[in-house]
Amino acid sequence: MPIFNDLNLDNWKESEIWTDSLWIISERDKSGKHDGFYHGNFVPQIPHQLILRYTKKNDVVFDPFVGSGTTAYEAESLGRHFVGIDIQPELIEHIKSKVDNKDYFSELITGDSTDKNTFSGVAEVLNKRKKENVQLAILHPPYADIVKFSNHEKDLSNTKSLSDFLNGFSLVISNTLSLLEKNRYLAIVIGDKYTQGKWVPLGFYCLNEAQKLGLTLKSIIIKNMEGNRAKQHKEAIWKYRALSSDYYIFKHEYILLFKY
Ligand SMILES: C[S@@+](CC[C@H](N)C(=O)[O-])C[C@H]1O[C@@H](n2cnc3c(N)ncnc32)[C@H](O)[C@@H]1O
Repeated sequence: MPIFNDLNLDNWKESEIWTDSLWIISERDKSGKHDGFYHGNFVPQIPHQLILRYTKKNDVVFDPFVGSGTTAYEAESLGRHFVGIDIQPELIEHIKSKVDNKDYFSELITGDSTDKNTFSGVAEVLNKRKKENVQLAILHPPYADIVKFSNHEKDLSNTKSLSDFLNGFSLVISNTLSLLEKNRYLAIVIGDKYTQGKWVPLGFYCLNEAQKLGLTLKSIIIKNMEGNRAKQHKEAIWKYRALSSDYYIFKHEYILLFKY
């Protein structure tokens, strides 16, 4: 039995855990506290799968780009403690108003995750909670400048170049490693982008940053992206544009899984 989860392998055939590297998720889980209002959120099934597979009850899950709180609600409902950071104070207040913070703590911090000082704050909070470190980190950064999240100059969606974005993201990984327990797991959720007619393999650049910091790659999971454009009834237009040019329409993103 692995020491990093509570899965019962007696009935492994019935396990809800996905073990393939291709995740086709047809619909967003809208149950519980997930309201899905945030334009840059991920589907709750991502933290759900990762938390069940890579943590035990009472472990601490950490998310330095907490956004609308998808990871926070999933951690709470699965009986894990949670620490999250976001640069936007309104989001942090929104999540605080929704979490129970009873049997399992949810510590929400407004701050810049590239900054070491923010992490001194996290270490203090953990200390107060009598925890030495975190057992799983889930990082869902802006996909560089694809979606602008705020006007804050330290918001990674406002970085001026790819190298600035990767430098900032590398700082977040390195800060996160200062909290992560050895032999536990870190996941990065990221997609690629097009700029000026070129496919920019953002996912692979981020993978590279993580490996430079000594993390061991365990899996590249490909996840489908559905819904956004269909919702706007623009599928046909995108197909026409792709056919009349030389590119493909993004339909996937990555979940990069590392062991520390
Ligand atoms: C892709 S969203 C995360 C969405 C989240 N997974 C959810 O389901 O709601 C990225 C988040 O990173 C935040 N962010 C950007 N730069 C940051 C920084 N330097 N420090 C902390 N948060 C940052 C943005 O405000 C945004 O909410």
